[in-house]
Amino acid sequence: MRNSIIYFAAIFTALLLTASCDDSIKYEVDHTPTMGMSFWNAFQLNINEDLVKDQALAVKELGYADAGYKFINIDDGFQTPRDSAGNFQYNAQLFPSGMRSVADYIHSLGLKAGIYTDAGDNTCGSENKYAYGLGTGLYGHEEDDCKLFFDEWDYDFIKIDFCGGQHAGLDEKEQYTRISKAIRSCDKKDIIFNICRWRYPGTWAEDVANSWRTTYDIRPWFSRVKYIIDENLYLQAYTRNGHYNDCDMLEIGSKWPGSDATLSHDEELTHMAYWCIASSPLIMGCDMRKVPESSREVMLNADLIAMNQDKLGLGAPVVQKEGEVYVVAKDMERIMGPKRAVVVMNLSEEPATIDVSLDALGFKGDVKLYDCFSHKDVDKPASGIYTVSLQPHASAAFFATGKRIEKSVYQAEESYMNKFSTIEGVSSPLYKASNSAGQGMYVTGLGSDPDNWMQWDNVYSRRGGKYVATVRYAADGACGFTLCVNGEEVKNVDGLDTGSQNDNWQTVNVEIRLKKGLNTIRLYNANGAMPSIDYLQLSKK
Ligand code: GLA
Repeated sequence: MRNSIIYFAAIFTALLLTASCDDSIKYEVDHTPTMGMSFWNAFQLNINEDLVKDQALAVKELGYADAGYKFINIDDGFQTPRDSAGNFQYNAQLFPSGMRSVADYIHSLGLKAGIYTDAGDNTCGSENKYAYGLGTGLYGHEEDDCKLFFDEWDYDFIKIDFCGGQHAGLDEKEQYTRISKAIRSCDKKDIIFNICRWRYPGTWAEDVANSWRTTYDIRPWFSRVKYIIDENLYLQAYTRNGHYNDCDMLEIGSKWPGSDATLSHDEELTHMAYWCIASSPLIMGCDMRKVPESSREVMLNADLIAMNQDKLGLGAPVVQKEGEVYVVAKDMERIMGPKRAVVVMNLSEEPATIDVSLDALGFKGDVKLYDCFSHKDVDKPASGIYTVSLQPHASAAFFATGKRIEKSVYQAEESYMNKFSTIEGVSSPLYKASNSAGQGMYVTGLGSDPDNWMQWDNVYSRRGGKYVATVRYAADGACGFTLCVNGEEVKNVDGLDTGSQNDNWQTVNVEIRLKKGLNTIRLYNANGAMPSIDYLQLSKK
């Protein structure tokens, strides 16, 4: 008996270890970020059937649909309280022909139709007091409502808010997972599902939804566009496998209702460029019939849209930072292929000049630069450094093409942390700023759980072979980790202690073998704490 317990315990441990090393990354995605428009920012609750049809027609007639903006997403405000049997009701005064007929009209224009609800009881706009939205959420009606929205009414997209979820005290992971099952049980397939939880919900969202909001609602520059960029800079690893961080609707070409604040032209370009390079859904939030020409050009910028709709569907981590000037970049078309997208943003209040390091961008020798704002090649190829001067809040956006070099330093903040979340009160590992860490950032709070791991998804080796992996760490008390390459355990490292979790950084070397092309490297500790990690450096042996 005892032997069989030991035997099963050994198998269980082996399964746990294998599960902790296991990886699965898609290098080409089924869905690129959703593009379309939504009614909330410009119209809030003041929507009706004619307005929806009118805006859909504008999207079709004014060139937005041809540029890729296909979804016409009805937001909050079309509901009325359920009937006495609990059946969902739309407001027949506002939508006299009915929701199905509106979706049919949208489809007749060659566009896609989107709808809105809440994961809990009440919608956000109801503020838990206005009757129209009370009890209209999905909670307790998941399957019936999904069948109505998708199989009867034929909608193609749904945004699911969480004000009612909070009000009903629901657990977001459980409830959104239940909803996802209800969506998948519908006859209609290929429904795009957007979670609106206003924080990065956690990596479970990738199994459940196509995209998820990461922040509170967008507003003009100071209160929100800048905050949204700041919040998303270090969430880029979670945009992967065709599932996306949603930076919220575009606030381009519009005024927030009740305010005169608009974005300047530079701010609109920075807003669009960041949403595009970060592979955020692009959901326009303006009155489509009243967009100033310069804003229309920003939203129809074909180069930025191509950057957004790239088939790799990657996020864009920070590759260089000087104060509040950031360089973010991602591969385009092929991982480690010759073409990269680059956005340089001055988020500070002063004009700034930055020498963009083309080495840090992963290039060697001459690099051809194409300017995505002027749609022209930059005069002559750059080498080593490319200097960019920017007014406050302005940016530059490029495609860079050249010979790539193997990347040697993988910052911890570029890694994917499996238990990461920014929901208040959820236990999560953290990205933390520190002047003593490389690029001013490190990660901490990993380990003590087989699922609490970090992983670099796209570790590239030109020829494959032996490497030394140098891990820079700091630890208060004995910590350790197991290093896995491509799902296989390579080494356990124990007894790491530098006397501090965020200082006295030291390094430890592990010999590894990479295969030719793309590899994953994971660090985990199922039973004890991991040290804080600053970066992983690879040197070819
Ligand atoms: C929340 C969402 C918004 C919008 C409103 C509708 O605030 O974050 O985008 O959908 O609800 O009430």
